[in-house]
Amino acid sequence: MCGIVGVIGGKPAAPIILEALKRLEYRGYDSAGVATLSHGDIVRRRAEGKLFNLEKALDSHPLDGTIGIGHTRWATHGAPTERNAHPHATERVAIVHNGIIENFRDLRERLTAGGAVFQTETDSEVVAHLVTHYLDKGLAPRQAAAAALKELEGAFALGIIFKDEDDLLIGARRGSPLAVGYGVHAMYLGSDAFALAPMTNRVSFLEEGDWVEITREGAVFHNADDDIVERPIRITDVSTALVDKGNHRHFMAKEIFEQPEVIGHTLANYVNPVDETLRLPKLPIDLATVPHITIIACGTASYAGLVAKYWFERFARISVEVDIASEFRYREAALPAGGLAIFISQSGETADTLAALRYCKAHGQTILSIVNVAESSIARDSDVIMRTHAGPEIGVASTKAFTCQLVALAALAIGTGLARGTIDAADEPRLVRTLLETPRHVAEMLSRDSEIHALAGEIAKVRDVLYLGRGHFFPIALEGALKLKEISYIHAEGYAAGELKHGPIALVDENVPVIVIAPVDALYEKTISNMQEVIARGGKVVLISDREGLDRAGDQVWAKIEMPKVDPLIAPIIAAIPVQLLAYHAAVAKGTDVDQPRNLAKSVTVE
Ligand code: AGP
Repeated sequence: MCGIVGVIGGKPAAPIILEALKRLEYRGYDSAGVATLSHGDIVRRRAEGKLFNLEKALDSHPLDGTIGIGHTRWATHGAPTERNAHPHATERVAIVHNGIIENFRDLRERLTAGGAVFQTETDSEVVAHLVTHYLDKGLAPRQAAAAALKELEGAFALGIIFKDEDDLLIGARRGSPLAVGYGVHAMYLGSDAFALAPMTNRVSFLEEGDWVEITREGAVFHNADDDIVERPIRITDVSTALVDKGNHRHFMAKEIFEQPEVIGHTLANYVNPVDETLRLPKLPIDLATVPHITIIACGTASYAGLVAKYWFERFARISVEVDIASEFRYREAALPAGGLAIFISQSGETADTLAALRYCKAHGQTILSIVNVAESSIARDSDVIMRTHAGPEIGVASTKAFTCQLVALAALAIGTGLARGTIDAADEPRLVRTLLETPRHVAEMLSRDSEIHALAGEIAKVRDVLYLGRGHFFPIALEGALKLKEISYIHAEGYAAGELKHGPIALVDENVPVIVIAPVDALYEKTISNMQEVIARGGKVVLISDREGLDRAGDQVWAKIEMPKVDPLIAPIIAAIPVQLLAYHAAVAKGTDVDQPRNLAKSVTVE
């Protein structure tokens, strides 16, 4: 994950920025850079590799100037070279960026036609040229930044400095976290409070859509409509562990809200936004001819596998079996020679999953693992790994790892379809663009947190809850039930909606809320008729759907949660967000230990 730092004060900015960047190293990076305003000009030092190389560059060519920005870059597209390292700059503006600018190609074409000369292939550079474009039109720096932000699409965090403004640092947040630090006649900007800890423990956090104008004497926060808003100053625990909770009460909440950022970073490993193609790791087998896929995992990870089954069958027309590792490892499963076995694990240490992996290896399967911990046991025993770049997941309940697993699996399923010719190569750019929209739609879903919070207070009062879904929403029903039961201790079950009349409907009465996950798609009407069966028996339905689906369902529904209208490819990923939030807020209302629920461990390393 990329890291952002900004400084505006009375001392040389570069050394302070370098120290702060060192505290962001845990996020992973492969190049870094600093820009300061020095004698009225924007001057940069950038270096490939570790911060040590940037430090050497600064030692041999020091940067003066008391205002600056810095960045650790995790190469998404464009090699990890000095040329592609941030800050990106024009003669008038320097910027640092974390996230994805989805519409950078259109903006780049328009700005190039207007005379802009781009130096790199990155999406980030377009921000520097867009702000410059508005400066050249005569807007003042604050207004130029605000105007540029309105044209950007995607999920990102930004830091911006200006050649003509020695007392202005702009920050912006849309999907990726950003914090403002308060010093003495000095102010700071950082990706998290941990980066700012060497300078201050007084921190404010930008909220979704905010941008902030920072001077040496303070900060003025604006919301997405440019209205001035207040953001509280919090005292952070400067001795925080490497990973802190930010402005959240629990790690689980922080990790839920990190999803736009970390999904973007995971995606960036498997798609190239510049040429809109997939970038999958090389496998020792040919996906065009692999006869069968076996997907094995536990718990939430197994539900990611179940969603992937629908994708592999739809896009690659290949036979797929999904099983939970604790059953698979003892089944003596018959596996076809040359098959692919996919293992999904956040920790990479789950004993049952590891044992199942070893069974598959012993039976001639190629082993591909989707793990969040690169150096884990499962990763080490695999032929190929696809990392999820979710960052450390501390909450026992898996959230950001789950959605990162889904985007990696979606890319793999599309890549398999392309290899087998079951997806037309001409469709690849559209599918990649759809995947790249995921962070933005997740951020839109997260913006409904307060509505879901209110509903969760009602859910917290009940004893039993049912979750229903069809197709690729059935695994999301299972995941929603698991989230609720494991952190709130409320009994919950997930069912395929079509199964209701085969037994579970006997459970339905006015005391059992039924959460129905049904955005409008080919199965919507069938699921809505299942929902009507529940309502007819006095059941209380919570419908999770897009605007059209909520309107078509009528007003007999007890409660509604609106999802953004999205392509069916990414709909199950977006649908995971409301069920995560519902479980989280219900657990908080019940006063359980949300991050460390009773009886549970983050990694089940025993049978
Ligand atoms: C998820 O919320 C649970 N904590 C649990 O089901 C978890 O997904 C399962 O134990 C698998 O863990 P892993 O992904 O680390 O293998």
